Amino acid sequence: MVQSPIATAWEPGLGRRTAGLNLCHENAEALLNEQPRLDFIQVHPEHLLQEKGGQYRHQLDQLRQIYAVTFHGFGLSVGSIAPLNRQYLQLVRDLLRQHPESFFSDHVSWSSLSQHHFHDLIPIVYSEQTLQFLCERVEQIQDAIEAPLLLENISSYMRFGRSTMDEIDFINALTARTGCYLLLDLNNLYANAMNFGDDPALLLERIRPDSVRSYHMAGCTEEQHERGTVWIDYHREPVRPEVWSLYQKALELFGPWSTLLEWENNIPPLQETLAEVRKIERIMAGEFPASCQVGA
Ligand SMILES: [Fe+2]
Repeated sequence: MVQSPIATAWEPGLGRRTAGLNLCHENAEALLNEQPRLDFIQVHPEHLLQEKGGQYRHQLDQLRQIYAVTFHGFGLSVGSIAPLNRQYLQLVRDLLRQHPESFFSDHVSWSSLSQHHFHDLIPIVYSEQTLQFLCERVEQIQDAIEAPLLLENISSYMRFGRSTMDEIDFINALTARTGCYLLLDLNNLYANAMNFGDDPALLLERIRPDSVRSYHMAGCTEEQHERGTVWIDYHREPVRPEVWSLYQKALELFGPWSTLLEWENNIPPLQETLAEVRKIERIMAGEFPASCQVGA
């Protein structure tokens, strides 16, 4: 399959060197009251589909008048065999028309089976067969939303014995064949490398450089269990120094695309999350704050 020239030339309307914060129930009021400087906020389209009326929906609609937005889904279940939710994709297409600065992303995963939604992002068997299937799904989604899709690499705690390729090769092939792009979550890449004994820097170097169009930064938690250590992306703490280093390296390899600070649990006062956004901005500007360094 040949990449469409339109998809190859595509860049998000948001622009490069932009830094943003995820919108959530806990920070909406503070964002409205304080209206801090942010290049964008990230919104879940599911909340625009499900939360009709109510305070949060009102806040969300107000905030998307004030800030540029990106749309990040968690319920598309790209890797599922269930039919695509056409109503949801129509909503996304309409949102992208309303917000030309925006883009729509979801995950390289599946999360539903028949009528059941697992509220979790489950990894895919990485094989030629599932790759073919995902390519068809991604093309249907891109046709429906009339825009390129961005897919995020997930964190995972298990791998399938039936996989015949690794995650990076799978994602490289998926983006090359369909013209979709990678939303590179550096925390997820780091957590997977730790969980499976890989070198995160080497994984980063194997990503197809032209495929990256956005970044996620977040904190992950090291948990001790009976059978060893697990790194879990709870998104409830500051970004780890090792992940800031990976981000600096990613900017060199792939360029300064829009970068989101994700903080979704144990959410501190807004100023604390904004301090993390300011670190993103400083690293994009070519600095590397002392507070981001290993051992700081
Ligand atoms: Fe993420």
